[in-house]
Amino acid sequence: MSSILLSEERIQARVRELGAAISATYRDKQPFLMVGVLRGAAPFFADLLRSITVPVSIDFMSISSYTTPAPSSGAVRIIKDLDHPIAGKHVLLVEDIIDTGLTLRYIRKNLLLRHPSSLGVCVLLDRPKRRLVEMSIDHVGFEIPDEYVVGYGLDHRQLYRNLPFVTLWDHSEE
Ligand code: IMP
Repeated sequence: MSSILLSEERIQARVRELGAAISATYRDKQPFLMVGVLRGAAPFFADLLRSITVPVSIDFMSISSYTTPAPSSGAVRIIKDLDHPIAGKHVLLVEDIIDTGLTLRYIRKNLLLRHPSSLGVCVLLDRPKRRLVEMSIDHVGFEIPDEYVVGYGLDHRQLYRNLPFVTLWDHSEE
C-alpha cells in the first residue's frame, strides 16, 4: 500500500474548514443533529464533531448493501436505526464517500419520510466519475479520482479503517 492520496495533515486541515462552515450554517438552525453512517464515517464523524462550535447532538445508523437481486438498485438494509425521532430537527447526514450515489439517495429518502426540518449531506470523499444518480451534496471534503481507496474509515474487507490517511488500494496485495 504505497500511494498516499490524502495525508493526515491535509485531512485534518480540511475537517477544520468543514467544521467552521457547518458551524456557521447551523448557528441559526437549531436543534442541530449530526447523523453518522456506520462504519465508514466513524473517524471522520468523530473529528468533524470536535470541530463544531455550535450546539449539536448525535445519532448513528448502520447499513449494509444488498448484493441481490440488483446491487444497482441501491437498496440498503438498515442494520441499526437511529435511536431517536428526527422530526423538527435540522439533520446533517455524514458519510465517508459518495460513489454511485445510490446508498446516499436511499438513506436520504428514508430520513425525509421522518419529517426533519432540513436534511443536509456532508461527505469526506466524492468520486464523481462513477455517479449514477444526481445528488446534491452540501459539504464535500475532497474530490477523488476513479480509484478504490482505503484508510480513515474506508475499508477493504473490513481492514485499513484505522489508517490516519487515505491511500489508493494496491490490488497487487490481494
Ligand atoms: P455508493 O452507493 O456507490 O455511493 O457507495 C457508497 C458506499 O460504498 C460507501 O459508503 C462505502 O462504504 C463504499 N465505497 C465506495 N467506494 C469506496 C472506496 O473507494 N473504498 C472503500 N469503500 C468504498
